[in-house]
Amino acid sequence: MHIFDRKKELMSFLEEERNKNRTIGLVPTMGALHKGHISLVKKALLENDRVVVSIFVNPTQFDKKDDLEKYPRTFERDLKLLKDVSENIIVFAPSIDEIYGENIKSQNYEFDGLDKVMEGEFREGHFDGVGTIVELFLRTVSPDKAYFGEKDFQQLQIIRKMAASKKLPCEITGCPIEREPHGLAMSSRNERLSKTTRQEASFIYETLQSAKAKFGTESARNIMDWVKEEFKNNPLFELEYFQIADEDTLTPMLKKQENRKYRAFIAVYADGVRLIDNLRLN
Ligand code: PAF
Repeated sequence: MHIFDRKKELMSFLEEERNKNRTIGLVPTMGALHKGHISLVKKALLENDRVVVSIFVNPTQFDKKDDLEKYPRTFERDLKLLKDVSENIIVFAPSIDEIYGENIKSQNYEFDGLDKVMEGEFREGHFDGVGTIVELFLRTVSPDKAYFGEKDFQQLQIIRKMAASKKLPCEITGCPIEREPHGLAMSSRNERLSKTTRQEASFIYETLQSAKAKFGTESARNIMDWVKEEFKNNPLFELEYFQIADEDTLTPMLKKQENRKYRAFIAVYADGVRLIDNLRLN
C-alpha cells in the first residue's frame, strides 16, 4: 500500500500512473472506515486501475467544535481495513497544515440553493467546507471517477453541481447506502452510540419505510405530521427535520408531479449524536 501525506508527492506518483494510461478513482473519506466506505472502495477498484482513498477529518465542514473533537479517528484500523481489501490502494492522509496552512477557512460557493435546505439550514457553512475540501482533492488527484455514498445524498448532489460548475473532468458516482443488520444507515458516528441506542436506531429507517408506504396515498404534509408524532412518542430520539424533497432540486415537495423523483430525508439526535438518513420514495 502507498501512503502519502504530501500533495506534491502524491501528484507526481499519480502523474506517472497516468502516463502509463492507468485510470484513477478517488474515494474521499474522513476515516473511521466502515462497510459503507469499503463498498465504495470495492466499486472504485472494479472500475479503475488505481484507487486513491483520502483520509482527512476536514475542520471547515464542522459547524460545532464539539462534533469535530469527538469525530472518531481510527487511522491504524483504517489502514488495516484497506490493506485487507487490496495492497494496491493509495492512501492520502494529509495534515490540516498541508491542506489549509495558516488559513483554516472555506471558499464560498454558489450551489443554486441546493445548500439552503435540510443539512444546509441546520449546519451553517457545512457545504462550503465540503465544497472546499472536495474541490481540492479533485484538483490534487484529478481522478476519472470519484465515489460518494448516498447516505449524504444532499452532499452528493452539491458535489455534482460543484464539479460541473468548475468544469472538473471527473465523473461523480453515487453509491447505495449500506445498513447495519437492524437497518441503521452505516456512519462513522454510529460508534458514538450506546449499544442499546444503536439497536433501537432501526426506528429511523423503519420510519422512512413507513413514510414510503404512505407516499402513494397521503400528502407530504400528512406524512410529515405523522413522522413528527412518531418521534414525539419516542424519548430515545430527537427529530431535527424530516423532509420530502425533489431528488434533483432538493426543494420540498408541495404537490406530487409526474416524472419527478422524490426522496424522504431525515436528521435525528440520539445520545447527543447527529444521524442522517434518506430513502427514495418513487
Ligand atoms: O462524506 C464525507 O465523509 C465528507 O463530507 C467528505 C466527502 C469526505 C469531505 O470531507
